[in-house]
Amino acid sequence: MRDRYARQSGDAPAHVRRRRFGAAVAVALILVACQGGAYPDQEITIVVPFAAGGPTDLVTRLIAEPMAAELDGEIVVQNVEGAGGTVAAGQVASAEPDGYTVLMHHIGMSTAPTLYSDLAYDPLEDFEMIGLVTEVPMTFVGSPEFEPNTMEELITYVEENLDTVTYANAGTGSASQLCGLLFERATGLDLTEVPYEGTGPAMDDLLGNQVDFMCDQTTNTTDDIQAGEVKAYGVTTPEPLDTLPDVPTTEEVGLDVQVTVWHGLYVPAETPQEIVDALNAALVAALQDEEVATELTDLGAPPVSSDRATPDAQRALLEEQIETWRPIIEDAGVTVED
Ligand code: MLT
Repeated sequence: MRDRYARQSGDAPAHVRRRRFGAAVAVALILVACQGGAYPDQEITIVVPFAAGGPTDLVTRLIAEPMAAELDGEIVVQNVEGAGGTVAAGQVASAEPDGYTVLMHHIGMSTAPTLYSDLAYDPLEDFEMIGLVTEVPMTFVGSPEFEPNTMEELITYVEENLDTVTYANAGTGSASQLCGLLFERATGLDLTEVPYEGTGPAMDDLLGNQVDFMCDQTTNTTDDIQAGEVKAYGVTTPEPLDTLPDVPTTEEVGLDVQVTVWHGLYVPAETPQEIVDALNAALVAALQDEEVATELTDLGAPPVSSDRATPDAQRALLEEQIETWRPIIEDAGVTVED
């Protein structure tokens, strides 16, 4: 069996390393000598709206160090879980617009306005955009002991065991919740959802056969799929992935679910333009970092091109996505009332 853990340090399994990495350094300090003076002159916090060790955490920790080096500053990564990412977004929206509190968030930024009737922030009005980071495909995966081996068998099995089959997600507003909603819409089946603070801990339970299946980002599933630790039923992209050549597309297996999880950085509205520019320049530099690009590409999620790592491209995508998901979510009738 390929030593799938060669990618990262130590010989502990990926999920153990993720948990150890996340738990031990939940507020990991990436130190780069701070030379005081102009921005930054104190540590910058990047807030991750999901649990440590998961896909959004992984992407954030990958870019944090090269960004800190570019800014000649210090970046800490802080996980603020809850309500599918809306707790963290609300915290950053009301933070000081001084460039020291940054949010990493994903497609959930565009679903939350429709999912939550009383959202504490407006994704378009209460934030400045820094730039897009990556667009991550999703995969449907099953626990090692879960009976179905193909998408067709999965759909039949769920249909025949609706009351007992469990689907893991990272809460209302998460990408895994959205993918589950699209699965229900495409199959007409009503899933029994088990919410977690992130798909990092959900993957641990899936590997431990505590939950049956989920739809999650390739940044969190590639290693375990390549090693045959989990069953893979389909990838949500129009074309198969080079990194997962044996995993069919959802279209190929007859499931009308296509979604990629775009990620971007945000700061509170009214943050000075020169700080937005400095953070954007640091992001662009980090995405051009060879190690970052290789790591993300190996996980099926290459960095976006520089022309998309811009505030304008991010704002345009966010606007479009809010309108794309609104009718689908409203149709599904899953709005969270206050
Ligand atoms: C995570 O980092 O846990 C994910 O992005 C959760 C999700 O949105 O499904």
